[in-house]
Amino acid sequence: MNVVKVGFLGFGNVGSGAYKILKEKRQEIFHREKINIEVAKILVRDIHKKRSVPVQPYLLTDDIEDIVNNPDISIVAEFMGGVEPARKYILSALENKKTVVTANKELIAKHWPELEKAAQKNGVGLYYEASVAGGIPIIKVVNESLQANDIHEIMGIINGTTNYILTKMSEEGRDYAQVLKEAQKLGYAEPDPTADVEGIDAMYKLSILASIAFHAKVPVDFIYREGITSITAEDIEYGKELGYALKLLAIAKREGDAIQARVHPTFIPLNHPLSAVRESYNAIFIKGDAVGNMMLYGRGAGDMPTGSAIVSDIITACQQKGAYRYTTFYNENHPSAYICYLSNWTSEFFIRMTVRDKPGVLAKIAGVFGKYGVSIASVIQKGYGGDTAPLIFVTHPAGELSMKSAIEDIKKEEDVLRVENVIRVER
Ligand code: NAP
Ligand code: HSE
Repeated sequence: MNVVKVGFLGFGNVGSGAYKILKEKRQEIFHREKINIEVAKILVRDIHKKRSVPVQPYLLTDDIEDIVNNPDISIVAEFMGGVEPARKYILSALENKKTVVTANKELIAKHWPELEKAAQKNGVGLYYEASVAGGIPIIKVVNESLQANDIHEIMGIINGTTNYILTKMSEEGRDYAQVLKEAQKLGYAEPDPTADVEGIDAMYKLSILASIAFHAKVPVDFIYREGITSITAEDIEYGKELGYALKLLAIAKREGDAIQARVHPTFIPLNHPLSAVRESYNAIFIKGDAVGNMMLYGRGAGDMPTGSAIVSDIITACQQKGAYRYTTFYNENHPSAYICYLSNWTSEFFIRMTVRDKPGVLAKIAGVFGKYGVSIASVIQKGYGGDTAPLIFVTHPAGELSMKSAIEDIKKEEDVLRVENVIRVER
């Protein structure tokens, strides 16, 4: 049986995980799938760097031509990260009639139609399972198992680093900065954790997932994004008392031609299936018109879970040879042509503020909410005897813009010392 030669672009966390799996399971994959896969070349920045996974030095190269112009290599697997030079290398591989497998969410989210068109033009495949939620096979499930459905809602925990941080803050009452340091030590968060904690990583993943679920391109520019850096242990504690867990959620909803897509810290009821997703685990909750509610749960990052998705794509690519499936979006040339991207969606809100503890303050704040049509579901005042008091409101569903205006006015009230946080609530 022919050997399928694969060229790797990158040999960091994901690359070494995929390599380990392909090496250790080569016989088993051959036995089960009748495919004999060999890693033929690996592109890295520094060929002399010590590697955590042993690899024969002759496999390493720092010259992309050794892979994209190697006629023996039929599949290129990319896990370098970033847009350039990954985009250029992938386009060159596709032009040279090599199927591409990638874990690169930023590249797919930003340049998907260009890559897909190049794959189609050259009659080769483009696979990206590992780009969303690591080891969870969410792309395959949406593309190949949910075709009977109109998917109208996705809610996901799709960033492991932030879920780890929020879990530790919630369960151990620790503050954000302390837990972030621990997450960095454990290798969950990058030395520069911005993409994770500011919701950028989750935004790329949501752009990909919502686009395939809704069959319409949901560009990153249309996704509202808020990270977890302003969340305090107090917010989480008060939320818990109200029966909520705090998660960084990626949410996308479609109603007719209107799509809303957003990434932000969100309170969800403690009995919601997503509230039980702890530590660095990911989960995606989907609502389809035929299937109803469903949830996929697993490891969203790490060498072996992400390697699992990469190897699965390589095997699928071998099996589909010549009959590739191309993802197209009817709005890919003009994203706003048929779709309206909402910015004024509706949700419930949790608002925590510090106020002067004196008669009439509550009534004034309630009056401002009333002016903007925001209906209060519950109010909690904590503490007695001091000059100031924490005040927590939970609202009924309200529009984003109404809430924004109400908060601006509330901040002008002289007895409101601080609006500490405004957090959306979903059910
Ligand atoms: P990483 O550990 O930083 O590895 C990156 C690899 O790419 C390194 O081997 C590096 O070479 C090589 N590389 C980078 N730029 C290069 C260049 N210009 N020329 C040649 N080689 C270059 O990254 P990672 O964590 O494996 O992530 C890789 C990709 O997978 C990213 O797109 C990421 O978003 C995605 N992803 C990661 C995870 C995860 O759990 N880490 C999960 C899902 C998806 P050197 O080793 O010589 O420096
Ligand atoms: N940094 C990401 C996370 C892993 O924490 O989930 C790569 O997708």
